Amino acid sequence: MQRVRIPAGELAHLDRGAGAPVLLIHGFPLDHTMWDAQIDALANTARVIAPDLRGFGESPRGDVDSNQGISMEQFADDLVALLDAIGITEPIVLVGMSMGGYIAWQFIGRYPERVRALVQLDTRAIADDEETRAGRLKMAHNVAEWGSGRVAEMMGPRLFSPRAFETKPGLVAAVRRVVEATSPATIAAAQRGMASRPDVTGMLSSISVRTLVIVGDQDVISPPAEMEAIAQAIPNSEFVVIPNSGHMTTMEQPEIVNEALREFITSLDRRHLTPST
Ligand code: MLT
Repeated sequence: MQRVRIPAGELAHLDRGAGAPVLLIHGFPLDHTMWDAQIDALANTARVIAPDLRGFGESPRGDVDSNQGISMEQFADDLVALLDAIGITEPIVLVGMSMGGYIAWQFIGRYPERVRALVQLDTRAIADDEETRAGRLKMAHNVAEWGSGRVAEMMGPRLFSPRAFETKPGLVAAVRRVVEATSPATIAAAQRGMASRPDVTGMLSSISVRTLVIVGDQDVISPPAEMEAIAQAIPNSEFVVIPNSGHMTTMEQPEIVNEALREFITSLDRRHLTPST
């Protein structure tokens, strides 16, 4: 992992491969390792940047106040600062998963000129309903006392398909370890940030870059029908359903996700090379 200073603190990130830049934004309460299979697959043809968001993985929390929370906009600003710090000025392929997707909406809304194409996996465009928001605030309030292990217990069953618990126990255990290693203060800050995130449904029709929308067929956090509606609302988009997968598509079905990403990214290059008539 490399580290760079940004105005809000420091970000640890992987920077691998060479070529057109691809930025991978992880979900909650995870870190860049949820992209391990994609980093390996894409780094042959692209420059892959996979940060740990502030407070997650190897990145320190900086000045984040867990009582106040960290907004999706602040995370997006951190990521632009990261790109600036490592000298990436050309538009990127922006890839967000779940909370990373909430951040990606803010990134493209605030910095559209920095985005060449968008990939959204297993995420939502609507804001939380009252019940979900209350659940987040309850966790934010109690997590210091509960500990991160209880968060892993609460979230675990919702992250993977039932089949993954039988066939891929190693993956489930790896994600559990990442959640357990995330500090309660970071969990509280991010939950408060997600609870106050805006509904971005209204901006979907103004996204003009090519977009790929990916969802696991058994995702209970960002259900397929909801993601299909996102794809329908974005003018230049494609929609891919990953079979036999819950929310964690990148880990549960890495080959299928990698193939979809590779095909999408190389098609951007092909289109670029096609002479206009
Ligand atoms: C995630 O995977 O990032 C979270 O499940 C998102 C959420 O809690 O809404």
